[in-house]
Amino acid sequence: MDGNSESRHGMWSSRWMFVLAAAGSAVGLGNLWRFPYITGENGGGAFVLIYLACIALVGIPIMMAEVLIGRQGRQSPVNSMLTLTQQHHRDSSWVLVGWMGVLAGFLILSFYAVIAGWALKYIFSLASGAFAGASGEHATKAFEEFLASPWEMIFWHSLFMVFVIFIIARGVASGLETAVRWFMPLLFVLLAVLVGYGVTSGGFAQGVDFMFAFEWSKVTDTALYEALGHAFFTLSLGMGAIMAYGAYVPSAVSITGTVVTIAVLDTLVALAAGLAIFPVVFANGLEPAQGPGLMFVTIPLAFGHLPLGALFGTLFFILVSFAAITSAISLTEPALAYLVEQHNVKRSRAAIGIGLACWLLGIGTVLSFNEWSDVHLLGEKNFFDVLDYFTQNILLPLGGLFIALFAAWALPKAVTKHQLGLKTAWQENGWLLLAGVVAPLGVLTVFLVTLIGIDNIRNWLS
Ligand code: PHE
Repeated sequence: MDGNSESRHGMWSSRWMFVLAAAGSAVGLGNLWRFPYITGENGGGAFVLIYLACIALVGIPIMMAEVLIGRQGRQSPVNSMLTLTQQHHRDSSWVLVGWMGVLAGFLILSFYAVIAGWALKYIFSLASGAFAGASGEHATKAFEEFLASPWEMIFWHSLFMVFVIFIIARGVASGLETAVRWFMPLLFVLLAVLVGYGVTSGGFAQGVDFMFAFEWSKVTDTALYEALGHAFFTLSLGMGAIMAYGAYVPSAVSITGTVVTIAVLDTLVALAAGLAIFPVVFANGLEPAQGPGLMFVTIPLAFGHLPLGALFGTLFFILVSFAAITSAISLTEPALAYLVEQHNVKRSRAAIGIGLACWLLGIGTVLSFNEWSDVHLLGEKNFFDVLDYFTQNILLPLGGLFIALFAAWALPKAVTKHQLGLKTAWQENGWLLLAGVVAPLGVLTVFLVTLIGIDNIRNWLS
């Protein structure tokens, strides 16, 4: 019943290294710009409570499912699923889940790397003092001009991809583990420094208010779907990244405790990000804009008007870049491990191949902000919007749904009991209820609602 005790790709040297690697995957652009904003917009404290419930009831069970499948299979998600379906005589179509993950990771990385490239560029912009005392118009224009120049974007995008390839090519122990061993502690320190800066900026009370004041009136049904969808993306679930990392977890590590630690770390970072960002925004009397506007216009502008702003603004973009790199490396692991296993390609070659292919596809995203911005592929959506929508709203939820169902119902009970260390009937039933019923139903609801559209549903109901 035991899976292999080691993966051929290497192993995390300790439980703590797995925690850092998985937290590195989870903590990314999603935490730093999306979470603070949707929290403020959806009722602050009330939204945070709903989000925590989603993490606990859906995120944690699915993450446990990914880690346990990975650790039992000890291979890339595709081959782990293949081995497990063969060993236990289950339908081979479950393997499609692994393939969907490979595809999702590939597509997400192609645009994630482009946006991460913007963060790299902004390290230098802030360090050069380009935003010192800048007007709102200037900050907006600087961003628009950058977006209008494909060559400049390609330069930063390429630089980011080179970093990613360099890390993943070196393998689990000396590549991934070394990267997270340095970047993650630095990320926590930087974040703490920036929250400290937020406390002294003069806008702290307002920032806290924006994030945490309970406003039940602002909590709508869309808030629930937002919270669940985000819980999913922020924990890197549904595409096998955590499953691939799970294959390298030593057998003695407790999955439940570790997964809870990772989810707590990810949530703390998201909350701290809000406390670093909003105080400086409010200290300048600015409105918190959404998405790219918040990160690349409002934040540089806010730092540009504060004492030592160039220094702390630079640190902020270093933080974003670290967070993006440790997420990006996890996006490649399912495909990379598969190529090494299946085709016996050297890891460094596979890394360069995958990196180049993603880079090439990324050019489509670069052009979506300039030359191709009016090329609509689906309704109003351009190339980048389509990739973003297809991965986040279709591939990830479907992947997560099937991963939870597979772990709860298709794998023999003895395997899950052994992997999760379930002892009592209570524990076993609790697991089945969460992973087999609550999480799948939650994901299915969000999947259908985002696909059909909340407004269409309202129309039918009324
Ligand atoms: N969790 C990452 C973030 O919050 C994104 C991600 C999704 C990374 C899926 C890996 C896999 O930005």
